[in-house]
Amino acid sequence: MTRYAHITGWGMSVPEKVLTNEDLTKMVDTSDEWIRSRTGISERRIAGPDQTTASLAVEAALQALEFANVEPEKIDLIIVSTSSPEHIFPATACLVQDRIGATKAGAFDLSAACSGFIFALNMATQAIRSGAVETALVIGSETLSRLVNWKDRETCILFGDGAGAFVLQAGDEPAGVLSCVMRSDGSGGDVLSVPGGGSKFPTSAETIYEGLHFIHMNGREVYRFATRVMASATREAVEGAQLTLADISLVIPHQANLRIIKAAAYGLDLPMDRFMVNVERYGNTSTASIPIATCEAIQAGRIQPGDKIVLVGFGAGLTWGAAVVKWTGPFPTKRKVFPARYRLLARIRSVLLRIVRRIEGLIWG
Ligand code: ACO
Repeated sequence: MTRYAHITGWGMSVPEKVLTNEDLTKMVDTSDEWIRSRTGISERRIAGPDQTTASLAVEAALQALEFANVEPEKIDLIIVSTSSPEHIFPATACLVQDRIGATKAGAFDLSAACSGFIFALNMATQAIRSGAVETALVIGSETLSRLVNWKDRETCILFGDGAGAFVLQAGDEPAGVLSCVMRSDGSGGDVLSVPGGGSKFPTSAETIYEGLHFIHMNGREVYRFATRVMASATREAVEGAQLTLADISLVIPHQANLRIIKAAAYGLDLPMDRFMVNVERYGNTSTASIPIATCEAIQAGRIQPGDKIVLVGFGAGLTWGAAVVKWTGPFPTKRKVFPARYRLLARIRSVLLRIVRRIEGLIWG
């Protein structure tokens, strides 16, 4: 029997600290007018000292599980899409797995920059459709503020921090993620990158002096690429789902720049009211932008069960992708689950596991 990957829960988390365009004018040579007219951004959120990619991901995940009414131990698979992971390893997904108490889940990170959430959604969908996985948690989480050079006015005005999460569950109804498109072009890798800290330029005093640990971007090249691929990926995904653009009630694009979203709308010959836009309040939160925008579209009543929507993004790599989703909402259940209450239990379990590992180390040497 064909199985479908339904989106049954969703959640988002953004830091409380707001950084406005006005604040940025005190840090670099820019203006509110320049930033708003070139990007559509008015403000973005910046992680506080105690907030990290994993902590934002955990908040979004617990909210998504609560909407879906799914206990953490029911999750089979956790994918965290991020370009600002907590560490090179272990994977941020494993930290999330431990903190929410998802004791049966396999967890790994996926790196496809701002397209990552679409790629992760597709991987989880394929795992569900194959029958190997019943329940998956897909998270996009970023603290790009930690990779931004706050003296570089071309990049520091763009990015913000945040996380968004979806719970995916297997179902027999033909709905959920109907089609996905994933594309890459590594010849454009140098257009947008964090060159240092990997195997090519391991961190050294020299790489830090040269600023290789910061985001480097050729904005015009990214702009040209983005305006080219947003419309084509959307068309391809819609065709893949055997639908037409007239069937699509809402497009949720990656929130990088309002001008890029308007160019996509023009390329698709769709009015702007068919697009979800919240870039003015969060800036570019990279892979987190699509799930955050989805959560806000639901809150605003712009997505109802049965609606067919498109998620579409682009990013470093270069990568781009789109997905068509027939919206479901939570599966009916009798019992209400509050996964945040499992947090303390998960912490106790984590501490106990560490103690057991210590004792085993003492016994076995
Ligand atoms: N304030 C004032 N002036 C600025 C600023 C700033 N913050 N930044 C650049 N300028 C200047 C430039 O120095 C340039 O000056 P010059 O003409 O004297 O050289 C001038 O403004 C115009 O620069 P452009 O590059 O032509 O500006 P443009 O209209 O292309 O806008 C922008 C720049 C906003 C970066 C645009 O190119 C863009 O949005 N590109 C896509 C970026 C993007 O989406 N990146 C994320 C990808 S997703 C991911 O994977 C993370």
